[in-house]
Amino acid sequence: MNQPSVEVTYTTSKDLVKLPVNKHTAVYHRKLGGLSLLNEESLRTLMSFEKGKTLKTNLFTSEANDRNDELIQQLALRKLIIPENLSFPTNQETQVGNTNLVTVIQLVMANACNFGCTYCFEGVQGQELSVDNHMNSLDESRIIARDSIKIDINDSMYASEERFAHQYDPKNRHMKDKAGVSYVKDALKAVKASGSSNVMIQFFGGEPLLNWKTINKVLNTFGHEHDGIDIQYSTVTNGSLITEEVAETFANFNVAVCVSVDSPTSPSRPLKNGDHSMPIVMDGVRKLQKYQNRVALNSALTSSTWNDFDRSIVDLAVDVGASEIGVVVDFDPTFYTKFGTENIVDKLWNVIQYGRQKGVILTGYWHQIFQVILGFDAVSYRGFKNCSAKGAQLSIEPNGSVFSCKAGSTLMGKIHEATNLLESDSYQSHNKLRRNNPSICNGCEIEGFCAGLCLGTLEKKFNSIGAVEPATCNFYREITKKHIQSLQPDELATFDL
Ligand SMILES: C[S@@+](CC[C@H](N)C(=O)[O-])C[C@H]1O[C@@H](n2cnc3c(N)ncnc32)[C@H](O)[C@@H]1O
Ligand code: SF4
Ligand code: SF4
Repeated sequence: MNQPSVEVTYTTSKDLVKLPVNKHTAVYHRKLGGLSLLNEESLRTLMSFEKGKTLKTNLFTSEANDRNDELIQQLALRKLIIPENLSFPTNQETQVGNTNLVTVIQLVMANACNFGCTYCFEGVQGQELSVDNHMNSLDESRIIARDSIKIDINDSMYASEERFAHQYDPKNRHMKDKAGVSYVKDALKAVKASGSSNVMIQFFGGEPLLNWKTINKVLNTFGHEHDGIDIQYSTVTNGSLITEEVAETFANFNVAVCVSVDSPTSPSRPLKNGDHSMPIVMDGVRKLQKYQNRVALNSALTSSTWNDFDRSIVDLAVDVGASEIGVVVDFDPTFYTKFGTENIVDKLWNVIQYGRQKGVILTGYWHQIFQVILGFDAVSYRGFKNCSAKGAQLSIEPNGSVFSCKAGSTLMGKIHEATNLLESDSYQSHNKLRRNNPSICNGCEIEGFCAGLCLGTLEKKFNSIGAVEPATCNFYREITKKHIQSLQPDELATFDL
């Protein structure tokens, strides 16, 4: 039976964000997204709710009479207008779907590397170094890090005894093939228990291809479906160890292959023996191309690569058939103070625009903020804002230990604990940040989509994953604004009255 129509006063949400975009105004909900464009007349309709306006509830249960009613329905669906007194005081109340999903399994295939990248956040790979020495220097480094934090090959971003022990333990160098299969089985139980029906298995390292045997075993054991879970694969590799077999197998399993290259000229990613890596990486990428793999380039924009990061990375992407370049902007906060938001945004935007001309998209954590705003309550179905390590990801070490990410320092437990792992305090401390940012973010125009700087850096600098690094915030906000302001009406929902 139809509910009787009653009158309800609607007002604009306090979470409404407006931004001029040429002749339109972009509007979205600060926590839920739903980015849309309104022309002047539609904006007037939206703002007519500012001081409250009475609507009949049957407007929302029957078909719209005209375009104005249709617009009002859409504004209400996007929660840009809401019943009076129903503000959204807590993030819980804005939650629409399931936000406990685990959707990414990061497998650390090897804690070793054949490269010596100057800026690597993992520090020297696969060497016997002293945990005690690192722990003794850590307190001091945290004090120094209040002003400056340095990440380079001699100083990883790690910040706990457990993490150092895992990095240097010779028994935690290589994930054995049988162990890999058993870890994935247990991890899939956790994925299922979280309510997710799909997962991305990411082969990571160190250099993951130092352990091809186990990657191959996992691919051939699990394929694209296991126990009702849909499985996709990706890897992040330095690209130097791609054989014909690797390239063919990756193509067969549709593995998304991210090859790390900062620029064709950058000297920051040398081989361990000091030689330039580009010739050998190009050789690998050509093999991937031969088997028509899905290849993306992964470029780090850091203090070390600043001078070399330019349009040439787009030309390289075109040359190797990569339609995407993931740009990891420095995890080191001093980068943002040293170069300044405006210069960083300008540099990146220049390459983004050139990429658009050439059909290559530039993505990264910073770009995901914009992507999530485009959807409506996207966090509920993808499981995370722009950092999967906040609840949506389990990172499994060769010895079966679980961290939230290769960049993180908090040990969560062992993967054989499977579903119990999700109950642990350390997992829950990450999960809590999946949607709810630290209170310092309250009111920020991108609060619902931005998870802040890499949690590894936060642990090192603040000894907490629940901190915010203010030096980076303007960069996130400005690059997001740039993306919104470059939108054309045919690229998203546009309401013209
Ligand atoms: C740590 S590596 C591991 C996978 C593989 N060895 C590789 O180089 O692709 C993963 C990615 O992190 C990036 N990376 C390492 N240190 C970084 C830092 N300090 N800031 C930003 N990105 C960094 C690398 O460029 C690479 O694309
Ligand atoms: S290749 Fe990857 S893991 Fe190795 S040093 Fe470079 S960034 Fe670090
Ligand atoms: S980390 Fe900074 S930019 Fe991101 S939501 Fe918080 S305040 Fe805003």
